[in-house]
Amino acid sequence: MCGIVGYMGPRAACPILIKGLKRLEYRGYDSVGLALNESIGFHLFKTKGKVADFESKITHTYTTGTGIAHTRWATHGLPNDTNAHPHLSESGELVLIHNGIIENFLSIKSMLLRKGVSFQSETDTEVLINLIEYIKNQDDLSLEEAVRLSLNEVVGAYAIVVMERGRPDKMIAARLGSPLTIGIGDGEFFLASDASPFIEYTKNALYLEDGEMGVIIKGKEVEIRKITNNDRVVPSIQELRMNLEEIEKGGYEHFMLKEIYEQPRSILDTMRGRLLVDESIIWMAGIWDYKERFIKAKRITIVGCGTSWHAALIGEYLLEELAQIPVEVEYSSEFRYRNPIIYKDDIVIAVSQSGETADTLSAVKLAKEKGAFIFGICNVAGSSIARITDAGAYTHAGPEIGVASTKAFTAQVTVLSLIALKIGKHKGVLNVPRYRLLCNMLNLIPDKMKEILEMSQKIELIAREYKEAKNFLYLGRGLNFPVALEGALKLKEISYIHAEGYPAAEMKHGPIALIDENMPVVVIAPKRGYYEKIVSNIQEIKARKARIIAIVNQGDEQVNNLSDHIIEIPDIDEMFTPLIATIPLQLLAYYIAIMRGENVDQPRNLAKSVTVE
Ligand code: AGP
Ligand code: GLU
Repeated sequence: MCGIVGYMGPRAACPILIKGLKRLEYRGYDSVGLALNESIGFHLFKTKGKVADFESKITHTYTTGTGIAHTRWATHGLPNDTNAHPHLSESGELVLIHNGIIENFLSIKSMLLRKGVSFQSETDTEVLINLIEYIKNQDDLSLEEAVRLSLNEVVGAYAIVVMERGRPDKMIAARLGSPLTIGIGDGEFFLASDASPFIEYTKNALYLEDGEMGVIIKGKEVEIRKITNNDRVVPSIQELRMNLEEIEKGGYEHFMLKEIYEQPRSILDTMRGRLLVDESIIWMAGIWDYKERFIKAKRITIVGCGTSWHAALIGEYLLEELAQIPVEVEYSSEFRYRNPIIYKDDIVIAVSQSGETADTLSAVKLAKEKGAFIFGICNVAGSSIARITDAGAYTHAGPEIGVASTKAFTAQVTVLSLIALKIGKHKGVLNVPRYRLLCNMLNLIPDKMKEILEMSQKIELIAREYKEAKNFLYLGRGLNFPVALEGALKLKEISYIHAEGYPAAEMKHGPIALIDENMPVVVIAPKRGYYEKIVSNIQEIKARKARIIAIVNQGDEQVNNLSDHIIEIPDIDEMFTPLIATIPLQLLAYYIAIMRGENVDQPRNLAKSVTVE
C-alpha cells in the first residue's frame, strides 16, 4: 500500500508534498517522510506516525522545487523512524520512495552485504536503493539505466521514484503492480499513487503501465521506456474528471460519515444514464457490446476481496435469480493461487473499489491468461483493473477516502443489480412485468436510503448501549447473508470489536454455543425473504438470552416482539434489500467506533488500497 508523491517545478515542493500526503494517507499511515533535492544536496525528514504530526516538525520554509514524499503501510520492518521512507543509499547519493514489496530482497541483501554494503533499516526498499547504487557505480551508469537494470533483477511489486543528490532537475519513476500517475502541468511535474495530490494543479495525467518507467527531466517531455528492453513508449496523456470538492470532507466530521450520507447521491450517479426508468431500459455499453457472451454464458466467476467480495456474493444471488446464470464467487487471493478451471467461454467479473487491489489484479491476469472474458466493476477510473479488463462498468460512487468501504459497496451492488436485470431481460428468463417492477423499485432506492439516514439518531442511541460489547454476531439469510458479513466487517475494522457474520440457519450447527446474555446479535429480518424461517432463528437466539437488534420492515410485529431494539427499513423487493439494509449497519459500526474513541477513517493496521499481497 503506501502513498507516494513527488513534485518538480517552479513552486516550493514541500507544501505540495505535504498536502499530497494528506490526500494519500488513506493508503497507509504508519510513518511519513520527505526528501527535498537541491543542488547542494538532500534535506531529509522522516518519522513514525501521521502526516499532521510530521508537518509540525518541518519548521523551516524551504523553497526547493524538487522533492518526494511517502506515507507508509509497513510490510517489511516495524513502523518506526528508521524504516520510514524515503530511503537513502549507503553513500547518501541516491534516495528512493517505494510502494510494494521486493520479494527477493533477502537474496539481493546477502549479495550486497557480501560486497560490503551496510544497511540501516529492515526494509526491502533500502535493499533496492542500494542495489541501484551498486549497479550504477559498477559501470558508471546514468541513474535511469541503473534503475532499469536493477528493476530487471527484482521480483515483486513496486511503484518507485528515485532522485540523485544535487540533481533537482531529474527524477526516475517506475511501476510494476503498484499504481503510479504522472501529472503534467505547465513546466511542472507531479508524481503520485493516484491523481488526488495534483488535481488542483493539472488535469493532464499519464498513468504508467506495468513494466514502464518514466524519465522526468526539467524542461523536457516525460520519456516513457520499457523496463525490460529500454524501448520507447508513446505516452498517452488522459484528462482527469475528478474534482477537488469530491475529495474533501464537506462539513462532515469524518470521511466515513460523509460517504455513508452520500449514498443516495452515489447510487443515483451510478444509475444515471443507465436506468431509463420511463422506458424501462437499462443501458450499459459494457454489457450490450458483449450481450451474446453474457446471454450464452454457462458460468460466471466473480472475484474480489473484503467488502467487494461481499458485493460479489450479493451479485451471485442476483445473477442466479434474475439472469439464471450459475455464479461462483471467489476470494481473489484464493483464486489466484489455485489452478482454477476456466473455460474460454467463461466470464470473470472483478469487483474492486480501488481497481488496484493486488490480489484481484493478479486474479484477473490469471483468468485472462486462461482465455476468460474479463469484466471489471471498479470505482476508480483509469485504475489498473479497469484498464486490464475486456469490458466493464464503473460504479461512479466518487472518491472513497474512508478506509471502511461504504458508498462503494452499495454502488457495486447497484451495478450488479443493473447487470442481472439487463441480462435476465435479454435472455428472456425475467418476465417483462417483473423486470419493469424491479426497474421502478431500483429507481426508488435513493429515496428509501434517505429515509434510513434520517434515523441516524436512533441508531446512535443503540450504539451507546452496545459500545462496550466484546463480541457481536450478525445474522441474515439469502441476499441478506452477505449483508450480515458486511455489517460484521464494518464493525470489526473500525471499532476493533470481534464480530462474525453468519447465515442465520447455520447458528444451530455451532455458533449458537457462543450465545449468552452478553452477546448482542444483529439480525437482518425483512418481511420478504425467508421471514418465517428467520423468526424461528430469532426465537432460538432469544431462548439463549442474547440481546437482539433487528433490522425489520416498517410495521413488523413478530420480530419486534422478540427484539430488544428494532431499526425499521422501508419495504422493498427482496432483490434490493441489501442496498438499504446495509446502511443502518454502517451507521451502527460508525457510532460505536467513534464512541470508543477510534479513528474511523484510518483504522489501525489497515490501508485503503491493498496493493501488496
Ligand atoms: C472494506 O471496508 C475494506 N477496507 C476492504 O475489505 C476492501 O473492501 C478490500 O481491501 C477490497 O478493496 P477494493 O474494493 O479496492 O479491491
Ligand atoms: N515494502 C515497503 C515497506 O515496508 C513498502 C510497503 C508498501 O508499499 O506497502 O516499507
